[in-house]
Amino acid sequence: MATILEEYITKHPGSARRYEESTTIFPGGVTHDSRYAMPFPLFMTHGSGPRKWDVDGNEYIDYVSGHGALLLGHSHPEIAEAVSQQILRGTHLGASTDEELRWARAIKALIPSIEKLRFHSSGTEATLMAMRLSRAYTGKDKIIKLQDHFHGWHDYAMAGSDRAAPGIPLASWESMIIVPSGDLNAVEDALNSDSEIAALILEPTGAHYGQLPFDAPSYLKGLRDLTAQHGVVLIFDEVVTGFRASPGGAQVRYGINPDLTTMAKIVAGALPGGAVGGKAEIIDMIAHRGDPEWDNTHRVYHPGTFNGNPLTAVAGATCLEIIASQPINQQADAMGARLKVGINDIFGKMEMAGHAHGIASMIHVVMADCGCDRELCTMPHSQIKEATASPAVTALKRGLQNLGVDIMGRDAFLVSATHTEQEVDQTLAAFETTLAAIRDEGLA
Ligand SMILES: Cc1ncc(COP(=O)(O)O)c(C=O)c1O
Repeated sequence: MATILEEYITKHPGSARRYEESTTIFPGGVTHDSRYAMPFPLFMTHGSGPRKWDVDGNEYIDYVSGHGALLLGHSHPEIAEAVSQQILRGTHLGASTDEELRWARAIKALIPSIEKLRFHSSGTEATLMAMRLSRAYTGKDKIIKLQDHFHGWHDYAMAGSDRAAPGIPLASWESMIIVPSGDLNAVEDALNSDSEIAALILEPTGAHYGQLPFDAPSYLKGLRDLTAQHGVVLIFDEVVTGFRASPGGAQVRYGINPDLTTMAKIVAGALPGGAVGGKAEIIDMIAHRGDPEWDNTHRVYHPGTFNGNPLTAVAGATCLEIIASQPINQQADAMGARLKVGINDIFGKMEMAGHAHGIASMIHVVMADCGCDRELCTMPHSQIKEATASPAVTALKRGLQNLGVDIMGRDAFLVSATHTEQEVDQTLAAFETTLAAIRDEGLA
């Protein structure tokens, strides 16, 4: 019988062929680090709702979900229509537009902590600006970042990552303080021992949209109290959790108001875009005050060719208006729950080590046992990280792809509101078959 790897090679000759050319053009043969895959990545042609297709004609149930952007699935008809209409009216008017106002209104309607905001082209830009605004507002230079939390790829965001970081000046990391995730005492110690801290930034459901979770209700409240006591800006990076952890993101789910929120992906209706929003007096560090002395010495400069781009604006506004008016999160969450229960049942039935945990429509698989409540996993982060680095996890990704299921990274499912019980049950059947193959190959 063919191995998972042999089957992958047999099923995807078109992708293999294209990869030969792409390695001569793109470093690693890909245009995003997370798409790098051995022996070659898959080349896709198109998507619709919860499904997408590759160049060999294979169909997939898609849980990559546009790196988390597709809460409404591929090519949602209303977004497609809005973008098509806007293309005919101009893709860049080089001016203020009604579309950007509509987009901002839709964001503010869902996230009450956002008094004012600015648009960007990506989540990386949004976290860069949130850090800069915090420094300018407090007059302090340092930022606390939690170990393993991901905030994009700019120099400051990369601090504390496990990998070496060639090309990043050490000086930029000297202003970053890395503390263990989920440990309030570590944050308190850092705040007490350094008076130069401007902000604390985190992913509010834990690193990698909850792969390494913490006791969110009490931890987030503790962070809110500590940062308020020390006059430190609290930044929730809701690039993934925004509009997904609840229609108002993790902050509304847990009832905690950060000072600043960074957004991308769903906020932009799955087009390129991002935003930073929050307290007016912080965001207004970008505003002109008509006082040349202040404007020239204190104001935070913010150009950006595609800020508030009309195509993204109509896609984002349409998407958020749908989320606000329809049971989108309810549907995605229900399918996430069905998937999670089903995966845990399969691990139990097959008597294999592993479990699924997660909240809302963000489900994580760990190939190790744990007695957690399957929502906020309590397994030590080091153990989760060890389990997710195993060859079994690579085999899981490939095996599922062989059976028409594409997951986020190697162990996560980002569910959309277009996934139905049919997609979930088909996924569970593929999961069971893949686990059996993994066991047969002696990988788990
Ligand atoms: C939590 C978080 N912040 C920031 C980013 C960076 O966003 P972008 O890829 O749009 O630059 C990401 C990207 O996945 C993210 O997950």
